[in-house]
Amino acid sequence: MKTITFIGNGNMALSIAQGLKKSYAIEVVGRDMDKLQEFEDALGISIQKHLLEGFDMSGKSIILCVKPANVEEISRQLQGQAKIIYSVLAGTSIAKIKAHLDTNAVVRAMPNLAASVSKSMTTLTGDTAFKDEAIELLGAIGETRWLANEKEIDIATALAGSGPAYLALMAEALADGAVKQGLKRDDAMAIMRGLFSGFGELIQTTHPALLKDGVMSPGGTTAAGYSALEEGNVRSACINAIEKAYQKAVQL
Ligand SMILES: NC(=O)c1ccc[n+]([C@@H]2O[C@H](COP(=O)([O-])OP(=O)(O)OC[C@H]3O[C@@H](n4cnc5c(N)ncnc54)[C@H](OP(=O)(O)O)[C@@H]3O)[C@@H](O)[C@H]2O)c1
Repeated sequence: MKTITFIGNGNMALSIAQGLKKSYAIEVVGRDMDKLQEFEDALGISIQKHLLEGFDMSGKSIILCVKPANVEEISRQLQGQAKIIYSVLAGTSIAKIKAHLDTNAVVRAMPNLAASVSKSMTTLTGDTAFKDEAIELLGAIGETRWLANEKEIDIATALAGSGPAYLALMAEALADGAVKQGLKRDDAMAIMRGLFSGFGELIQTTHPALLKDGVMSPGGTTAAGYSALEEGNVRSACINAIEKAYQKAVQL
């Protein structure tokens, strides 16, 4: 069984390790033995636990799961040249990782919030020699998509990374609208959740425009509601949201 080494023992490391624990031996490197023990307990299998100070990365395949601001600090504690670092750090370029950490290759991965339920939409880019392995590893927490370069991963961050917040706004607002018209809050929330669940399945196989056409009958209720969304510039607001989030990702 191949070994995969996590540096960092937080939420993202645990989500990915949950997906990999059946097919890989898991090694975790952190700064606190008690937290490493909690990680092992949460994972429910035996893992190798190491402290960061003096840890030797030589020849290892590493999934880097600390916070972006921790890179310089951990670089002072690690030794040896890694075979490959898969970095999930938001807004942290391959050049920055290579400047601080000794590694033969780097692949960036951008998961999203749904990693905790193994439904992440994770984008990947970096050293193409590790493309297949990256897709296999990050596939443990959901879907993956390999992108051509870091500009594209920054755009994808604006879409899939921030996307759960945009959809949460829509979800809450639609339920609020139903409450405003007199539906009980519990009923509105349950119906909104069912709506998103069914829509999540449909959008996998049907173009959005065809979904909309399929439900919008002439002069009907959907047409009335849909035109209100257009009057509210929802389409334009969504396009602007991606632009602003992308610009912010570039600045980070
Ligand atoms: N969560 C998401 O949905 C998501 C999505 C995309 C990308 N990411 C990226 O995933 C990475 C990890 O996020 P997370 O949600 O797993 O965060 P987290 O749960 O807060 O875990 C952060 C990890 O970094 C360690 N750490 C913090 N300060 C450190 C230091 N000074 N030196 C060494 N280690 C330090 C923590 O150690 P202790 O346990 O000892 O504090 C912990 O193991 C981040 O870079 C984030 O950008 C997360």
